[in-house]
Parts: sequence; C-alpha cells; structure tokens
Amino acid sequence: MTTPIEAVRLPDPRPVYASLLRERPFAFDERVGAWVAADAAAVRTVLGSPALRVRPPAEPVPAGITGTAAGEVFGDLVRMTDGDLQRRLKAVVTDALGTVDAGRTRALAAGHTRDALTVRQDRPDLFQDLMFGVPARTVASLCGLDRDAGAEAARAIGDFVQCIPASATPEQQRAAAVAAAGLRELLGPGIEAGESGTGLLGDLVRAATRASWSGTAPLLANAVGFLSQTYDATAGLIGNTLVALARGTAKVPGTPEETEALVREIVRYDAPVQNTRRFAAEPFAYAGSTVEPGGQVLVVLAAANLDPAVNPDPHELRPGRADPVVFTFGAGAHRCPGEEIAVSIATAVAGELIAAGLAPGDLPPEPEYRPLANARIPLL
Ligand code: HEM
Repeated sequence: MTTPIEAVRLPDPRPVYASLLRERPFAFDERVGAWVAADAAAVRTVLGSPALRVRPPAEPVPAGITGTAAGEVFGDLVRMTDGDLQRRLKAVVTDALGTVDAGRTRALAAGHTRDALTVRQDRPDLFQDLMFGVPARTVASLCGLDRDAGAEAARAIGDFVQCIPASATPEQQRAAAVAAAGLRELLGPGIEAGESGTGLLGDLVRAATRASWSGTAPLLANAVGFLSQTYDATAGLIGNTLVALARGTAKVPGTPEETEALVREIVRYDAPVQNTRRFAAEPFAYAGSTVEPGGQVLVVLAAANLDPAVNPDPHELRPGRADPVVFTFGAGAHRCPGEEIAVSIATAVAGELIAAGLAPGDLPPEPEYRPLANARIPLL
C-alpha cells in the first residue's frame, strides 16, 4: 500500500487518504517510522498538544547548519520553535502580517505576473517563475525591497529553503548558509530603520514595540521566514489551481470573486502542504495509544480536509463551499498567519493568466510532481 509520504506526489492522492480515514485514522506506520494522524479529530488533537513539538527536542536546529547564518535564522523562526518565546514572537509576527492589505498584495502580485509574462513569454521556466518567483517577489515588495533587491531575495530564498527538509545534503546546507547571510543583508536595513520603517518590515518593528519585544535578530530571522514560508507552499497553491483547470475538474472562473473561491477550495481539495510533523517531548496519549518521548507523528493535513465528519461530500471540488473545515494552514499554536497573503497572491496570478488568455489545454493535465515529502507542487 502507498504510504502517505508517497501519496504527496501521486496524480491523485485522495484514494490513499480516504482509506487512511476509514481504516487507520491514528496509527503507527512502520514504513514511515512514525505515527500517522489522518482524520480531523486526530489532526486537531495532535496540533493542539503541548507534548508534541515542531522539532526533535535533541536537535532544535539541524546539525549541518548549526553555527552558520542559516542555523541562526532557523533557530529563531516561530515555525521552528516552541514555548513561551515562540508564543510572544508569534503574536508579533501575526500582528505584522495582519496589517497587510489584501488589495495591495493582489495588485503587487498581478504586476509581477504581468512582468513575468512579458519578460519570460515562451521561456521553458515561465510557469516555475510564476509559481515560485512571483510569490517571493511579491512578499519582497511587501517588505519594501525594490525590484532588483526583490529579485535577488527571491533567488536566495530558493537556496535557503533547501536546508529545511531532514534530507538536505551538505552541499544544500552550505548554499543555504550563503543565502541566509545574503537575505539578512537585504532585509536588515528595513528592520534597522526601526519604527519609522516602511512596509511589512516597519510593521514588524512597530508590532514588536507594541508587544514590548526587544531584540532585532529574531525579527530579522522571521522576516526571512516570511519569504521561506511563502515559497514552496504558494507555488503549490498556484500550481494545483492551474492543474484543476487543466484537468477540467474546475471550470475557468469568470470573475475575480470566482477565482478567489476556486483558490480557497483548492486549498482544501488539493492541499499544497499535505502534511507536517510533530516530535514527542512528553508522552502523548490518544485513542488508546501512546506516543512515547522521541516518537514522531506525521500529521496528514490533506487527509483531514477530506474527512466526511467535517466536510460533506469531501471529494467534490466545490468553490464557494459553505463553512469548509480546512487544515492546510495548520491549527493550534503554529497555525499559519499567512493565509490571506497566500490566497491573494494565488488569486492574482491565476486571474492574470486567465485574463492573458490561458486556456486549460495550454497546461499538462497529468504533470509529474516535485519529489518532496510534504509539499505538493506540480512540474508545469
Ligand atoms: C498556500 C500557502 C501556504 C500554506 C499552505 C501554508 C501552510 C502553513 C502551515 C501548515 C503552517 C504550520 C506548520 C506546522 O504547524 O507544522 C504554516 C506556518 C507558518 N506560515 Fe504558512 N503557509 C502558506 C503561506 C504562507 C505565507 C504567504 C506566509 C507569510 C508571508 C506564511 C507564514 C507562516 C509562518 C510565519 C508560519 C509559522 C507559524 C508558527 O509556527 O507559529 N505562510 N504555514
């Protein structure tokens, strides 16, 4: 049987998730070497438990980047830490991201999309640039970087994110360290400008002041985090939306509102982030089983989205679905604070492509997927 890790890159992972939901909503999987939480109740409980942490307690920073700029950034990311400091810094990050105006994000993303369509038309990497480059350049613009610095940051973040998976090679870790140093140089001035700074970085500093947070290094690290958290996940959201159009699973939207409704339903139906992990620091008891300290839980967000207990007719792609229950942006203390930015960017990119005359037949309906363990990103 296919593992939930292998499912991430299948043309259709839904049958694998449906059988997990029916047969093994919370169980140990020898092949994965971890407990697998699949249904909505298990995923919610796992993500809400303080016994389960985002990093292995013995290795808060991957050994291969410890002592490098990449390790310093990694160690300060709210995404990669737990406890009181994470909670305080998360409040600052969430406050700052909450100030971002959706209309401005859409306008910036639409502008970067039009630029890419002009500059890169007929280039084989056009869709890769629309999926990865445009979201990164949009968040760089929100951070106040100009066009050249934004393009440089978008390139560097591609190198930085390579150090995040446990499978990173020493070469990837070295490249990530160089990228992290470059990203700190690009974003540093926006943080050092302090409370009078403009854009998202100025908002981050002002949010820190409101929360009586002092210490600029963690702010700078989490500014890098805005770009790294955007990168793969938003690429997947754009790609999976385009694949639904190419396959004819979704009809081509006629208005910006319809495009946004489609993007929001793709988040649930074909999640760009399919799973995340937790590591037991203390015993975690659930449904008659116990995850002992040192144990891992694979949290299959994409399966929980398809749980009929929370979403009726879960296998139907239904833009505008009433009250969907969606786990793609996580839950609990680490829930993603970037949802609205991600949806705004994906809506703008898809909308511009449709306005430029993209027809479903212009894309492969059955693409290969990047060989990743948690993000579902088609190779278009
Ligand atoms: C489709 C796009 C995106 C998806 C699917 C996504 C999904 C997620 C998920 C699942 C988590 C939690 C991981 C866990 O609990 O293990 C997370 C955390 C986070 N995301 Fe996103 N994300 C997206 C885009 C963004 C964007 C655009 C930003 C900001 C510009 C962002 C900022 C963050 C941050 C700062 C965290 C860490 C929160 C914490 O650990 O407390 N994300 N994201």
